[in-house]
This record gives sequence, C-alpha cells and structure tokens, in this order.
Amino acid sequence: MSNTFGFTISARQGRARTGVVSTPKGEIRTPAFMPVGTAATVKAMMPENVRATGADILLGNTYHLMLRPGAERIHNLGGLHRFMNWDRPILTDSGGFQVMSLTDLRKLTEEGVKFRSHIDGSEHNLTPERSMEIQKLLGSDIVMCFDECPALPADRKRIEESMQLSMRWAQRSRDAFGDRPGYALFGIQQGGLEEDLRAQSAEALRGIEFDGYAIGGLAVGEGQEAMFGCLDYAPGQLPEDKPRYLMGVGKPDDIVGAVQRGVDMFDCVLPSRSGRTGQAQTRMGAINLRNARHKDDPRPLDVECTCPACANYSRAYLHHVIKSQEIIGSMLLTWHNLHYYQELMAGLRGAIADGTLDDFVARFHARRAQGDI
Ligand code: GUN
Ligand code: ZN
Repeated sequence: MSNTFGFTISARQGRARTGVVSTPKGEIRTPAFMPVGTAATVKAMMPENVRATGADILLGNTYHLMLRPGAERIHNLGGLHRFMNWDRPILTDSGGFQVMSLTDLRKLTEEGVKFRSHIDGSEHNLTPERSMEIQKLLGSDIVMCFDECPALPADRKRIEESMQLSMRWAQRSRDAFGDRPGYALFGIQQGGLEEDLRAQSAEALRGIEFDGYAIGGLAVGEGQEAMFGCLDYAPGQLPEDKPRYLMGVGKPDDIVGAVQRGVDMFDCVLPSRSGRTGQAQTRMGAINLRNARHKDDPRPLDVECTCPACANYSRAYLHHVIKSQEIIGSMLLTWHNLHYYQELMAGLRGAIADGTLDDFVARFHARRAQGDI
C-alpha cells in the first residue's frame, strides 16, 4: 500500500475519467461515491456492511463532531477511524457550509464564523485554523478547506464577495494544514453559476496548490439543468491531474451527468436519508415503499439487485416494516440504496474503462424511463 497520497487516471472517455486515489489507508476507485457518516456513523448501518456495499471511503462532518462528542474527545479515544470502527479512508467536510445551513444564529466575519449549536445553543467559533485543527484531531485522510457559500439564487455581488472570502480562507487553510505526508487537503471552488467567478476561484486555488479540488456551491437550489450548465465548464477550470469532487451531489442522474462532465468523487445523504423514510433508489427510478400498492406484493424490490433487502425480503415485508417504523426497515432500505449507488459507480467505472460509457448512460436513462414495471 502507498505511503503517500496520489491520483492515477487509468482511462478516459470524453471528459469522463476512471482511476484510483491512493492513500495509506487504502485505495479509492473513481468515480467514487462516499456514503455520509455525519455523526461517526452511516445511520442504520454497521461499518462492515457499508464496506460490503462497495464503499472505499466515508464522509464525516467537522461541524457535528466538534459539537458532539467533541474533536478532542475523539482524538483522545484514538481518532475517528478507531472510534467508529472504519479503518479505510475518511474525508471530512470543514464545517463552514454546515454552520451556514444548520444554524440561524451566526456571525460571519473575515476571521470565521461565530455560531450557536443547533443541539444545545452553546456558542462556538469556527475559523480556517480551528477547522484544520479539528480535522487533524479526527485523523481525517482528506481534509476540506474552510469555506462558505450562499444558497442560490443569490445576487452576483454576494456570490463574488463570498467566493473571495472563501479563497482567502483557502490560503489560511493551506497555511494551517502545513505539510502532512499521507494526508490530503482539497481546495473548494466557489462562484455560483457565474463562469468568470468560477474561473477566478479556480485560478486562486491552483495558485495555492492542493491535492484535490472540490466544486462547491452547487445543488443549493439551482436545479439540475443549471448545475449541468455550470459543470459544462467548471471541472475543466481545475487541474486535469488531480481528483475533482462535486460536494453534496446527488441523485443518480445528477451523478451520471457529472461523471460525463469530468467529476471523480461524490457524496450525498440521499441514499441513506431517503432509505430511512422508505424511498428506494433503483434502476427503475425512485420507489416509495410506503405506497399501499406494495402491501400484498411478494416480489423483491428489484429482481436484479443482490443486496440483502432484495435477496431475502418481499416488497410487502419492506412496506410493512417501513409503515410500522421498525428499525429493520431503515436498515434494509439504507443497505439497498447504498448498494445501488455503489453498483452504479462500478458500472460507470467499468464503462469508462471499456469505452462504452455512452451505451451505459443510454441504458441507464432508458431503464428509468420505463419506470417500475
Ligand atoms: N457540501 C455541499 N456543498 C458544499 C460547499 O460548497 N462547501 C462545503 N464545505 N461543503 C459542501
Ligand atoms: Zn437491493
């Protein structure tokens, strides 16, 4: 296993790429989907089961873990990997984005963000320097720069000033992170849907130099068409030889479109969160197991899926346990959804490697257009 952080692209088709991000804790096959383990758990899943779905890496959150149970506590207990029993790579988000979306009492200054916890109202300060310190205490393998961004639509002036602040924070993040062999620091591009601001942001990040580059500030209310419009140019503004990570995306068709546009990494709460409320993500599109049409249906959720929910249970059973809010309902649907996402990523990787991505994408859309038949 490699002792350093690196990225190797093994095949390309159009703007899409497939390859491997190597870290001392293991390889991340790209395009990659990272299940979200916000509070040191992928909700309703044991870590070994998350691995069984095919995940190479998890995402954790600075914001949630600093509030509860606390970064110093996790550090004293041996770090986040040991704490949550996941020995493969972990990427942590930096906290600024979560402060802005989860708290209503907050004060944004050049220094950072002062805010009140959404859990107990206690006061906290998050700065680029503190975010780097927390992510180091957690033992995160891929550390994200401290940034912030407005929800869209927002006026250009707000987007521009926010992007410039995030670029100053990116430099402070880089300085505070220092030199840590085997660990990576990713910059985050901002600039909303403004092509020239995205270009300025990319230029600033390339000047600082990062191990990977995220595209931030998308999937914040702009819709798929506008997001794809931005992804038609944003990945090309970032270094060709470093991993590109689209933050917080997305639905299966968002991911497929973004991979075609040159994105390598993704994270989203959708498969885990929607699973807990009874929504299955499938080849046929989203299926709501709460619907009464499943009540007497002896068929599996998806005949072609090999996950435990599909291999061992009927739609009628899944409907029953979801309706009665049995814990196993959340477990089975989360497992299925994460399995489906990982299979989709494996399919994309294989198709790029074989040069059959266009066929793969056509079949992906055709099957969804047929619906749940
Ligand atoms: N998650 C989704 N979008 C973003 C973003 O723009 N920045 C950060 N830090 N996290 C995100
Ligand atoms: Zn399944």
